[in-house]
Amino acid sequence: MAALAGGPLSLRWVVLAWVTLYITTTKAVDRSNFKTCEQSAFCKRQRNVKAENSPYRALLNSLEVTEKSIKLQLINEVNKVPLLLEVYGLQGNMTRIKINELNPVKPRYEVQDVLIHDPPTVPLAVVGKDEGSVELGFGLYKMIVTAKPFRMDITTGNELLLSLNSRGLMVFEHLRKRKDSRNHFTNSPGSAIHGCSNSETAHSVQPVRPTSVGLDFSLPGFEHVYGIPEHADTLKLKTTDGGDPYRLYNLDVFQYEIYNPMALYGAIPLMLAHNARRTLGIFWLNAAETWVDISSNTAGKTLFGKMLDYVQGANEIPQTDVRWISESGIIDVFVLLGPSPFDIFKQYASLTGTQALPPLFAISYHQCRWNYNDEDDVRSVDAGFDEQDIPYDVIWLDIEHTDGKRYFTWDPNKFPNPKDMLQSLAAKKRKMVSIVDPHIKIDSGYKIHNALQSKNLYVKTKDGSDYEGWCWPGSAGYPDFTNPEMRSWWAAMFAYDQYEGSLDNLYTWNDMNEPSVFNGPEVTMHKDAVHMDGWEHRDVHNLYAFYVQMATAEGQIQRSGGTERPFVLTRGVFAGSQRYGAVWTGDNSAEWDHLKVSLPMCLSLGLAGLSFCGADIGGFFKHPSPELLVRWYQAGAYQPFFRAHAHLDTPRREPWLFGEENKLLIRAAVRERYTLLPLWYTFFYRAYKTGEPVMRPMWVEFPEDVETFNLDEQYMLGNALLVRPVLEQDARGVQVYLPGKGQLWFDVHSHQKYTGSQTLYVPVTLSTIPVYQRGGTIIARKERVRRSSSCMHSDPYTLYIALNAQHAAEGELFIDDGHTFNFEKKNEFIHRTFSFANNSLTSRCADPVGRYDTTAWVERVVILDVRRPSSVVIKLSGGAESSLEFEHNPDTAVLTVRKPAVNVGADWTLHVR
Ligand code: NOJ
Repeated sequence: MAALAGGPLSLRWVVLAWVTLYITTTKAVDRSNFKTCEQSAFCKRQRNVKAENSPYRALLNSLEVTEKSIKLQLINEVNKVPLLLEVYGLQGNMTRIKINELNPVKPRYEVQDVLIHDPPTVPLAVVGKDEGSVELGFGLYKMIVTAKPFRMDITTGNELLLSLNSRGLMVFEHLRKRKDSRNHFTNSPGSAIHGCSNSETAHSVQPVRPTSVGLDFSLPGFEHVYGIPEHADTLKLKTTDGGDPYRLYNLDVFQYEIYNPMALYGAIPLMLAHNARRTLGIFWLNAAETWVDISSNTAGKTLFGKMLDYVQGANEIPQTDVRWISESGIIDVFVLLGPSPFDIFKQYASLTGTQALPPLFAISYHQCRWNYNDEDDVRSVDAGFDEQDIPYDVIWLDIEHTDGKRYFTWDPNKFPNPKDMLQSLAAKKRKMVSIVDPHIKIDSGYKIHNALQSKNLYVKTKDGSDYEGWCWPGSAGYPDFTNPEMRSWWAAMFAYDQYEGSLDNLYTWNDMNEPSVFNGPEVTMHKDAVHMDGWEHRDVHNLYAFYVQMATAEGQIQRSGGTERPFVLTRGVFAGSQRYGAVWTGDNSAEWDHLKVSLPMCLSLGLAGLSFCGADIGGFFKHPSPELLVRWYQAGAYQPFFRAHAHLDTPRREPWLFGEENKLLIRAAVRERYTLLPLWYTFFYRAYKTGEPVMRPMWVEFPEDVETFNLDEQYMLGNALLVRPVLEQDARGVQVYLPGKGQLWFDVHSHQKYTGSQTLYVPVTLSTIPVYQRGGTIIARKERVRRSSSCMHSDPYTLYIALNAQHAAEGELFIDDGHTFNFEKKNEFIHRTFSFANNSLTSRCADPVGRYDTTAWVERVVILDVRRPSSVVIKLSGGAESSLEFEHNPDTAVLTVRKPAVNVGADWTLHVR
């Protein structure tokens, strides 16, 4: 192995210093560890190109119509380098625009394995042409390609939706041989910006750099853009004028700062633009370091200023302009044309896949800390949950459980009998997760290392030796997960006979997979490290974590012979990561603002397809006050991934260590989560089917209501529950915006009714979690909470029916065994639709393909906002009728119908007469 920088002594110092910092400090992020755009040579070069006439011209005579696409050559009039533009019309209202060099001196990297297939095309025809432009048509859309300067405009009817290169900021740095010093990168003759004299070329051995690409997009009519996770920032993206662009570069940022555009662990290059009439998406398929600039002609204008413009007739159409810049690769951009938010989710899912349906335990409560020390510790924490009557499903082991940070092993002193430990958890239908990081200790006594070394599966340095970096184990190699052979080898390591001490209730946590390299530039891998087929790390950086999680998930599937669904938590993500499991927001802090920002962080990930998101409950660094911990549990109970976690150095935090009163509040929050598991599971099933987020911004459900476009502190769980957790210290009350004219909302605890289109002030105590069921929805709960979700598998359901103003409601329920692929492979599932209309509640099959035997029954039906009936009768599909007992509360207008006693999979109608 080649050492990368400095002698071994200085290396050790760096690492020791880093680890000590990580373990002991309370200092905030050290910004000097991370680049600004100004310090990132390609970003600086690209950003210095100002909006002028673009040097690019489309050669309309080169137009070629092929079966799948339309091709056209572009030329940079300054350096004469020809590019190839390919335009595709894609099924489901999308278009793909690719720009590459026509004759690159070597191929440029194109992202692999992220798209689930070659996207099916629709006919794209030339519908008009003159000497200066060509008009392409597909479906209801037109694309006008203007030759000089090159730009593209996408329209529908008379409406201009989006323009490309309309500000002339496109820059495509062509590969060149070293001696080629022609101006490659200029908008106007004489203003050449040479890319070869800056820091990024310091490690260069390739004769072909610089290689960056950039393109601008204009979005007339849009003032709100969202997405491009992961950033610790507001849901609505801010304009970046005068500051740094949003950065997409998977990084291990120590003690990250919130409300800024710095890169974090994950990078999903999908942006959504939304206005009251439509939603658009821009998916920039590039895995290299990427920066996104956002500007807007209305930024900084107050509402009053905008109104004044309007009154004075100076009402400029609001417009957002964005500019994407990537260090290498090609321009490969998908424009998702919506028009609704749900169309966007579907479109993006058709490209990158949907959220994997998690096993039920995985959406239940997880107890983690760095570290549970030994088997006795695990046993006593596990017993603690039973003693305190708090349900939980999974206990986690962090890096200290291993034998000297050698993953796939156990510390022989602290964990001598892992199988016994796992079995005793299994006896309570509980699981364990162990951490498996992708840095491998360089140690000739470690079988994983020996195999990877001898199979030549490590990432290489530019000189061809195995790349070596420092991480938890000290000196470590980094498996080349871009190589399918590496991934299948890794997957095989999860077999029970390879991962000794593992059993089928052991699942996996992939941490540090950005990858984190303590002594690397910006705490990550050198960009000139070399992957399979000679691709530089710079080309594939943002894909590394995606591949690690993919291989791990595959390993878990294989160990069960293809039957069991995997559960893998990852820190780093890219587009498509949703197919492999869950993500968390990394090393947050026990601070109120960190609790607050967890909402927009997970909402942004959800918009980008990744629903299964959560934040460390309590905050990773520092020690939460009891109040903060309680509030964090209450918020976390309503976030998709629900796990408490804490830094090695923090005092213990099991829920019963904060006094009786706080314990009861935490228990109530966790139990509330368990009662709602049927709803969570059903929403996850929808996410798996359609790509729609489980936890979604208010505007997704109320797309025309501009009041919802900026809301960061409340959101919808599916279409049914509005959640506004208390995120403020000493809160006596919170403001909740209830949208929708004529929309009814019901407090889920008091059942009090409210009408929409108002901001409510809700007084709160420490036990309050403000949650409202939307009128017109039906949700299912399981109200007999037990020690783990599997113990509740066959328990009965209670249906909550919140009527709308028309006295109607709809809802659904998905049920399967909760852990296998049988729902997919053998259609073993139940999918029901419940609808209430004309005083009757009907349960019918939503998907006749599914069949699943269950003894679970409906034990209660609760109807909100209904008058007292004289009788309630249930009629089974065979015709049998029986009267049911009921109670009606005249104060709340809540009707509780007892024991319908019908199987949850049966057809029936309940008449409220
Ligand atoms: C960093 C992770 O973000 C954190 O959750 C974990 O506890 C430590 N690594 C140790 O594995």
